[in-house]
Amino acid sequence: MRVPTGIAQIDEILGGGILEGSLVQLVGGCGTGKTTFSFQFAFNAARLGEKTLYITTGEPINKMVKFMKEFNFFDEKFIGDKVILQETFFRKTTEGTYASMLEIFFDNLTSRVENEKISRVVIDSVTPIVLFLEESYSREMLSRLGTSLSAIGCTTIFTSEAIERVNYLEYLVDGVIELNEVPLRDKIHHIYTLKIKKMRGIDHPRHLFPYEISEDGIKIDPEGLFEIVGEIVD
Ligand SMILES: Nc1ncnc2c1ncn2[C@@H]1O[C@H](COP(=O)(O)OP(=O)(O)OP(=O)(O)O)[C@@H](O)[C@H]1O
Ligand SMILES: [Mg+2]
Repeated sequence: MRVPTGIAQIDEILGGGILEGSLVQLVGGCGTGKTTFSFQFAFNAARLGEKTLYITTGEPINKMVKFMKEFNFFDEKFIGDKVILQETFFRKTTEGTYASMLEIFFDNLTSRVENEKISRVVIDSVTPIVLFLEESYSREMLSRLGTSLSAIGCTTIFTSEAIERVNYLEYLVDGVIELNEVPLRDKIHHIYTLKIKKMRGIDHPRHLFPYEISEDGIKIDPEGLFEIVGEIVD
């Protein structure tokens, strides 16, 4: 079964959306729209009657909501019931303490998803989780979380910064959507590009799609690419 992302053109490109129970990484530099995309995903689910647990690990909820309220897809009435917001800030402690804290956090998360019949989870972002632990350990823990959520039919988005330390995530997730800000040759303008780098189980295009962020959220222009090829700095 397909789970629509709520971004119409992406769902079209993917033939209906991502696969139910899959774990998708949304990777991009600062301000490329990871939070906007994830909120669109959650509010679209709410309109379909589904519940999303949205965990923020960096930006405080009240600030995030204040920014997201500017978008047309935002609807206060879904907050709390269909869009459940949770703030979990990870602080550096000793590696052992941090690892056991994380283990408890992941166990609670899986139980909550199961008990409250939550069908989607967003962790925005997983970067702190990755940065505070040794790679082999964070890899194993995140992979285990993805497997447990998938086993209960939950579709998950991990957002992450585009930094080397999180590169390994691409191998353990089912799908990778990459958001980029690309300078144009005139060195004044830039465009945003989206690439579906990987999506297990789906035959998808691999080229860049230009997108915009407007009051309607993220919007892809499927024809736009052909206007800007040649303008992009190699
Ligand atoms: N209402 C709006 N209309 C149009 N564009 C907006 C609006 N609100 C935000 N933006 C654009 O979206 C960008 C922020 O998007 P968002 O917060 O989703 O990015 P992000 O990838 O989550 O960033 P970060 O890495 O800082 O968490 C802003 O920098 C701005 O350019
Ligand atoms: Mg963000």
